[in-house]
Amino acid sequence: MKVPSPIVLATANRAKAQELAEVLGSAGLTCWGEPVELRTRPEGVAEVPETAPDFLGNARLKAEALVAATGMASLADDSGLEVDHLDGAPGVRSARFAGEEATDAENLAKLLEALAGLPDGHPGRRARFRCAVVLVSASGQSLAARGTVEGRIAAVPAGDGGFGYDPVFVPDEGDGRTFAEMTPAEKHAMSHRGRALKALAEQLASS
Ligand code: IMP
Repeated sequence: MKVPSPIVLATANRAKAQELAEVLGSAGLTCWGEPVELRTRPEGVAEVPETAPDFLGNARLKAEALVAATGMASLADDSGLEVDHLDGAPGVRSARFAGEEATDAENLAKLLEALAGLPDGHPGRRARFRCAVVLVSASGQSLAARGTVEGRIAAVPAGDGGFGYDPVFVPDEGDGRTFAEMTPAEKHAMSHRGRALKALAEQLASS
């Protein structure tokens, strides 16, 4: 598939849009030698309900709806956190864990409360972020990719970078810091979203 430009992002989450732009930029995506132009979802195009049972299904729903609404190529991601003690929850409900309109702080507080009985290092604190990305061209061609990062949930939040559950997620591949204590580049190098987008960029380059 030729790299489409502009690409409309399906997300309404500014922090996520920022990460998508940073990671795609560093993956070196270009169209006719120019950086790909990314646009956020236009005002007036409603958020697409995430009704699929998995990340890939939701990303596809969002990308296809955005193409239908705008006539432009669209990139959508869906992501979330799976925690072993919670049998994989909050999963696709990560953004709504503490309620439909919950803030990041409320979701984080609910997670810490749910794990309060488990000491640091307990296997129930094992967790992973997963991300699926789907790119659909204006003519309906599509590419999809996934990324995962394994880690654990810290008992005490640390750091003020990133968003969502970053202050309590300690990736196995790191040096003990949470995602929120890392620079954006450090996080992207091992994050679920960074990996999914790199895999997508590789597919684009070879398609
Ligand atoms: P969605 O992909 O917009 O459905 O929402 C994903 C939700 O999962 C976010 O609102 C966060 O709560 C969480 N999440 C996904 N990726 C990350 C991340 O990189 N850091 C922290 N939280 C994340």
